[in-house]
Amino acid sequence: MTIPGLFISFEGIDGAGKSSHIQTLADAFRAQGRSVTLTREPGGTPLAEKLRALLLHEPMDALTEALLAFAGRRDHLRQVIEPALARGEVLLCDRFTDATFAYQGAGRGFNLDVLSYLERLAQTGCAPEPDLMREPDATLWFDLPPAVAAQRLTAARSPDRFEALPPDFFARVAQGYAARAQAAPQRFIRIDAAQPLPAVWQQLQAALVARGWLGGEP
Ligand code: TMP
Repeated sequence: MTIPGLFISFEGIDGAGKSSHIQTLADAFRAQGRSVTLTREPGGTPLAEKLRALLLHEPMDALTEALLAFAGRRDHLRQVIEPALARGEVLLCDRFTDATFAYQGAGRGFNLDVLSYLERLAQTGCAPEPDLMREPDATLWFDLPPAVAAQRLTAARSPDRFEALPPDFFARVAQGYAARAQAAPQRFIRIDAAQPLPAVWQQLQAALVARGWLGGEP
């Protein structure tokens, strides 16, 4: 019997601290005997990693950003995400489509209907059946006030094109995530990322235990 795959994405504004928990969650699933693929967007395949480097470092407009993000995502879905889920693995992805709606849509102010069209085009090849479109089973949304995230980022390495943007950009991105969460309350799991690291992990673990995906007390 094949176990169904499980697709979990991690989202939040830059500095929200999501990346430090992905490895811990991968270890927790492996300890339960699950095979885990850990991946990220932009990126996750040799081609998409090249597109990531362009997206993060070359000047371009919002449409070009969106096109690169979706081109990389299409390759990532075909080469990594769909095959891993078909093998019954747990697929942990550091950012996915919500990031495009939050950064290019809410942050840059790019047209959300065009993003939805590009999403369908890139993720289904424009198949008429919208239910063929892959979505995460759950999205762990690391919610943090932009001012706190900015403080954390100042201590970080040299900023990329997005990390260098002003606080009002991140305020819009945070609103974009909140809107996505409101539109998909079953999929989104809000994590209060302002708490200390162990408390953030406990929230995350409890949410996945409650869904029956991780063993332990809910
Ligand atoms: P990361 O630092 O979490 O790996 O994310 C890289 C940056 O790329 C981050 O600032 C968010 C941005 N991004 C977009 O603008 N659009 C997208 O579709 C994705 C996936 C990321």
